[in-house]
Amino acid sequence: MSPEAALAGVRVVIDAGPTYEDIDPVRFLGNRSSGKMGFAVAAAAVAAGAEVTLVAGPVALVTPPGVARRIDVRSALEMRDAVLAAVRDADIFIATAAVADWRVAEYSTHKIKKGPSGAPVLELVENPDILAEVAAGNPRPFVVGFAAETDHVTEHGREKLVRKRLDMLAANHVNENLGIGADDNALELIWAGGSETLPRASKSELARTLVARIAAHYRDRCPTE
Ligand code: CTP
Repeated sequence: MSPEAALAGVRVVIDAGPTYEDIDPVRFLGNRSSGKMGFAVAAAAVAAGAEVTLVAGPVALVTPPGVARRIDVRSALEMRDAVLAAVRDADIFIATAAVADWRVAEYSTHKIKKGPSGAPVLELVENPDILAEVAAGNPRPFVVGFAAETDHVTEHGREKLVRKRLDMLAANHVNENLGIGADDNALELIWAGGSETLPRASKSELARTLVARIAAHYRDRCPTE
């Protein structure tokens, strides 16, 4: 099958970027994700013929041409709602977002002021795992997760693949020059039957290879689609 048709007629949902967890009207908890990898995956999926829905956290990126739908969200809870609604009629879900692990237990509607009692203590609660929730659905799309690892990439990745019941996992080699916020990336692609190293390349080049592999595995899994 030609690369332009690998995902023809396939509906793909991708989440991307960070989430921001508001503390009060002027402050939030966030992370350094740029969203570049997710947007590159969206562009590559469009190029492969997919109908793409992109659920984007707060990023400064232009929607890749051909993306059918972009839903902008801010927090993990908003991203979860948007993703769960979008995957209802999706064939593939690719979770590239760096979802904040925690949010504050109680949002303050007024700006928290400095005062004589010193620095505030923020109580945090864990955010839902959007990826695991989609993977636990029945029916569910073909599910691809991402993971950021600094060491033992394949072992940690495989553990995550099993724990979250994923079809594939793309594990990022994170160091000072690769991964979060950088233009280049390298991935270890892991599935139940094997793994493959996708060597260092620009995020757009890597995204094209990744989408080709996802398409091949998806077609193997769902030959009638
Ligand atoms: N993810 C998610 N919802 C969360 C947390 C993570 O959907 N609340 C998804 C991410 O989009 C990504 C994968 O899960 O696809 C990352 O899994 P995670 O367990 O957070 O792994 P790491 O970021 O690698 O962190 P750690 O190993 O510390 O758990």
